[in-house]
Amino acid sequence: MPAEPVVQKEIKPMVNQILLHISNTPVELVEYCQKNGIAVEAYSPIAHGEILNQPEIAAMAEKYGVTVPQLCIRYTLQLGTISLPKTGNPDHMKSNAEVDFEISAEDMETLKNFKKIESYGASSGFPVYGGRL
Ligand SMILES: NC(=O)c1ccc[n+]([C@@H]2O[C@H](COP(=O)([O-])OP(=O)(O)OC[C@H]3O[C@@H](n4cnc5c(N)ncnc54)[C@H](OP(=O)(O)O)[C@@H]3O)[C@@H](O)[C@H]2O)c1
Repeated sequence: MPAEPVVQKEIKPMVNQILLHISNTPVELVEYCQKNGIAVEAYSPIAHGEILNQPEIAAMAEKYGVTVPQLCIRYTLQLGTISLPKTGNPDHMKSNAEVDFEISAEDMETLKNFKKIESYGASSGFPVYGGRL
């Protein structure tokens, strides 16, 4: 006799995928999701590549001895979100996975409140994808 299919009635896994990167951190929304058991996925965590043009972020990355994308990815992980960086470059992919360092609480606050990027340049349309797919 075939086994009864297992139907999970209690657990309702949910995910909210949102634009989240340094300079665009909807803190209240992230906290609301986390309090209500909704996983947050951070799409475009490198700000479609535009964050690479921010000298203050480059200086902070240098302080930690990491690249700007590594700082960006680690930032989203420390917020308790799932990071969805995009790259078409295998070397970038490898280094983007090397995020075993810790951003201080003070620097996390600085990054949460970092000034809004006014324009994503060539990636300003929707949907937006930085670089080659
Ligand atoms: N759900 C939605 O509505 C939605 C909307 C937009 C995007 N997305 C998803 O989000 C993902 C990313 O889109 P995005 O382009 O906006 O993402 P992103 O991850 O914020 O930025 C990608 C850009 O960063 C560059 N980059 C990545 N790692 C790098 C490194 N180590 N050094 C230098 N440059 C680096 C990439 O260039 P290289 O390729 O040259 O590394 C590319 O130009 C996609 O998977 C997409 O499906 C979802």
